[in-house]
Amino acid sequence: MLLTIFNGSPRGKQSNSRFLCDAFMKGYIEKDDGKDIIQIIDLIEVAKIKSLRSIFAQSDHVIIAFPLYIDSMPAQVKYFFETLKNYKMKKQIQSIGFFVQSGFPGKIHSTFIEQYLSNFSMRLGCQYMGTVIKGGGESIKISALQKKIIHRLIFKIAALTDLGRVGHLLDNKKHFNHFYELGKQYKKFHYFDSHIIKKLDRPKKINWFNYSLYKFIAENFYWNTLLKRYNSTQQRDNTPYS
Ligand SMILES: Cc1cc2nc3c(=O)[nH]c(=O)nc-3n(C[C@H](O)[C@H](O)[C@H](O)COP(=O)(O)O)c2cc1C
Repeated sequence: MLLTIFNGSPRGKQSNSRFLCDAFMKGYIEKDDGKDIIQIIDLIEVAKIKSLRSIFAQSDHVIIAFPLYIDSMPAQVKYFFETLKNYKMKKQIQSIGFFVQSGFPGKIHSTFIEQYLSNFSMRLGCQYMGTVIKGGGESIKISALQKKIIHRLIFKIAALTDLGRVGHLLDNKKHFNHFYELGKQYKKFHYFDSHIIKKLDRPKKINWFNYSLYKFIAENFYWNTLLKRYNSTQQRDNTPYS
């Protein structure tokens, strides 16, 4: 049995989507019985997408992972889907599932695309395995960027206390472990464990206070750090197309 995971992030191997897929794969291959093959394919090269279609068609099961871009999917994922639409496959893909992770915390941002993905799977004639949603995806990079002990300590406390219902999003180890467990369960029972899905997709929605807290963390511990690193703070308010 061949399971192919397509990573639809334009950031390719350095993407949050890819890190989560890697954790899933780690869990999947933990107990290798020699019967199943799993591969992760990055969809970054649009020129190759048509040839990637044949990899899709050769797979028994498929998972497509991507970040939310402008409340939808990155362009190359859309293009990939469009090339699949009228593609006559020699054999039927048995099942298809999705990982969607958004920058904003809150499952609500991804629920519209979830409905589309379920319809899309039906149109392809595949069994729909569900969509695993994770909000606050960019926290993966925010947490990894913290070098100062005091900042790491603040993050640890925020994660442990689940500060403002968004603190848990800063706990990378926990989220990677959820995807690892998801991979293990998928290998054993061939479905996405609903308990793990519930742990990943919280909170469903956040209020104004919690959003402000998340924004404060993202701005001060991430965007500003990156701007300083690339010596670009002066240009932060530039509006090149205005
Ligand atoms: C062009 C662009 C558009 C985005 N649009 C959204 C959006 O509409 N909603 C959201 O929650 N996050 C949005 N994000 C944030 C990404 O979903 C988030 O940073 C994600 O973790 C990136 O994953 P990746 O590293 O796998 O590409 C956007 C990011 C970019 C670069």
